[in-house]
Amino acid sequence: MTPGRHAHAVLVAGAGGVGKTTISAALAVAAARDGKRTLVVTVDPARRLADALGLSELGNQPTRVAGQRHLWGAMLDVTASWEAIVRRHAAVEVADRLEENPFFRAVADRFPAAQAYAAGEQMAEFIESGTWDVLIVDTPPAVGGIEFFLAPGRMRDLVGGRLLRWLTGAHIPARRTLYRITARPVLRLADTVLGGPLLEEIAEFLLDLRTLYDGLSHRARSIERHLRSAVTVVVTTAQPTPLREATRLFTELPVAAGRPDLVVFNRTLPEAWGAGGRLRAPGLPEATRRALRDNLKRWADESRRQRQARDELAGRFGVAMASLPWLEEAPISLQGLTRLLDAAEGLPLDRLGLIGTE
Ligand SMILES: Nc1ncnc2c1ncn2[C@@H]1O[C@H](COP(=O)(O)OP(=O)(O)OP(=O)(O)O)[C@@H](O)[C@H]1O
Ligand SMILES: [Mg+2]
Repeated sequence: MTPGRHAHAVLVAGAGGVGKTTISAALAVAAARDGKRTLVVTVDPARRLADALGLSELGNQPTRVAGQRHLWGAMLDVTASWEAIVRRHAAVEVADRLEENPFFRAVADRFPAAQAYAAGEQMAEFIESGTWDVLIVDTPPAVGGIEFFLAPGRMRDLVGGRLLRWLTGAHIPARRTLYRITARPVLRLADTVLGGPLLEEIAEFLLDLRTLYDGLSHRARSIERHLRSAVTVVVTTAQPTPLREATRLFTELPVAAGRPDLVVFNRTLPEAWGAGGRLRAPGLPEATRRALRDNLKRWADESRRQRQARDELAGRFGVAMASLPWLEEAPISLQGLTRLLDAAEGLPLDRLGLIGTE
């Protein structure tokens, strides 16, 4: 590859538990197998998958997957990412203070939007590093859907937003602004009632956060550009909640954010099951026959429901569809991931930019 070239990014989005991490890892295996220097950034993979990817002990620092020449893995460490973000965008003493601030830690560690933003910044860093041909981003569980794409804009709104302006006065903050916090008397009064310096500390935290505004809003725009030029893969199952989240990614994303390129239906049943079938098992007791018949019918219904959900999404949004079968054994090793890839239907690895020449 040309040194300094941006990595081709593939984002894997979708509701919780649908198989985002598994599919991210599988796509990364496919790209690496094709000789592309590939990094998969995942979040909290299942223990055995983490072991398979050599991620058990890891954080933001990419590490080569054992035995794989072209495959690296990293696991998003939100706290470390936020520390890096603050170091990048704030003056040293502000960064020191923020890192000490319990509210900062709480926000960075627990808020889904902060997690999504951290993942976005981390993604941008990796894309721009020029070290990889392909970057696969597994979106954080709490924000697997549309929130991931909205996070940069929201972060920009938060640090430049109305609440902060109200607290800090209209102008761009300098440390001295702290002493002019418009709302300070109110906060002090409330703190007296609450019996501690809670709100005042929060105000200081927000004020420090606001000094990040210039750097952060500039970065947020470049993250949005990366999100737009990335390929987006939406993972779903035929369950109502994942389907709703998948639909939102088509209907509620701002036009400027682009549009998903592929929907992957995961854990599908064989289509042939939808045809049902007659139970020919003479000699079985009637109760057993009934139970087996009910079972067959249930799986046939489920298979048809899946098919219908797939057709509906494809028809409504005119998007390419792929299916990954429900494997008997969960794909939590490199071999398992390869098996999943081999069993995939309609997975256009070339069009996703994962294999073949560019
Ligand atoms: N096609 C499949 N066949 C069988 N098991 C699967 C398949 N896809 C995923 N799984 C299993 O389903 C579980 C959930 O998958 P995974 O962790 O990839 O989902 P996720 O979308 O990343 O979840 P979260 O939102 O919690 O991060 C895992 O145990 C995984 O091994
Ligand atoms: Mg996951």
